[in-house]
Amino acid sequence: MRTIPFPGGDAMPALGLGTWKSAPGEVGAAVREAVRIGYRHIDCASIYGNEREIGTALAAAIADGDVTRAELWITSKLWCDRHAKKHVAPALKQTLEDLQLDYLDLYLVHWPIALKKGKLMPERAKDLIPLEKLPLAETWQGMEAAQQAGLTRQIGVSNLSVKKLRALCETATVRPSMNQVELHPYLAQLELLSTCSELGVGLTAYSPLGSQDRPEALRVEGERNLLADPLVIEIAEGIGATPAQVLLAWALQRGTAVIPKSVNPGRLAENLAAAELTLGPMDRQRLGALDAHRRYVTGDFWAVSGGPYTLANLWDE
Ligand code: A2P
Repeated sequence: MRTIPFPGGDAMPALGLGTWKSAPGEVGAAVREAVRIGYRHIDCASIYGNEREIGTALAAAIADGDVTRAELWITSKLWCDRHAKKHVAPALKQTLEDLQLDYLDLYLVHWPIALKKGKLMPERAKDLIPLEKLPLAETWQGMEAAQQAGLTRQIGVSNLSVKKLRALCETATVRPSMNQVELHPYLAQLELLSTCSELGVGLTAYSPLGSQDRPEALRVEGERNLLADPLVIEIAEGIGATPAQVLLAWALQRGTAVIPKSVNPGRLAENLAAAELTLGPMDRQRLGALDAHRRYVTGDFWAVSGGPYTLANLWDE
């Protein structure tokens, strides 16, 4: 499988398993099956509320001899209420305990948003802390210290705009090695792709299949379904693949990592097989024409009335 290279020689398998929305009671079996059939990269986050079950599945996979710790690539993410420098390492240690691991391969700052400690989501403006008061540069110092302490091999960010990524790279001692954002043919983010390449920051595509299983609150009436897009279906039929495989191959051929979520054994295998698929230049060009700057995860849950965050200052658009 294609890998994403990092400073110091680490290499992340470019196709991993997403675990956002994978329910407790389902996620453990999905991770166990994924590792059994050959997934080596699992994308996690403390806010997904399922790291303990994933930890049990990983421990079983290692104990059963399916895989060694060194062969796995495990990513997790710092939640927004632990952005103070002193809170980063304790949050990471909690994730390590839950995942039953001694170290992570990659730890990401989940959002460029700060919440008061103990808040999972903002209910009112005073639950949020403006970035002017708790800047990402301070959180990043905590990330650098956690890496220095050997808690994680690589550190990175998620949901960062071109502007925020450039600003962070200017103050960072260690550059973020990854930015994980929503990416698919309806949201191709060409400027972010070229900026990451220029800065030497990897890019990972979340919601690559359009996250049709996202919570009701994140859905909009009449939105377009990527997997049902006539062009995606036509291209899939033309090459004897499935629509999901076309979307995943598109992401991999752009040089990004991609983390489709599934808890279904058949779809886990289907998605993994996409790593072997090649799209022709014509098909890639046609998929490129679908770009509509359409986000499924708009981030509007951060734009609480009277609070410091708006969609404009979140995405810098
Ligand atoms: P399931 O977990 O039942 O397989 P995303 O990765 O963009 O968040 O999308 C995840 C959604 O896509 C889930 O609803 C998941 O359902 C579904 N999904 C995953 N793989 C496939 C596939 N190969 N074909 C169709 N739907 C898929």
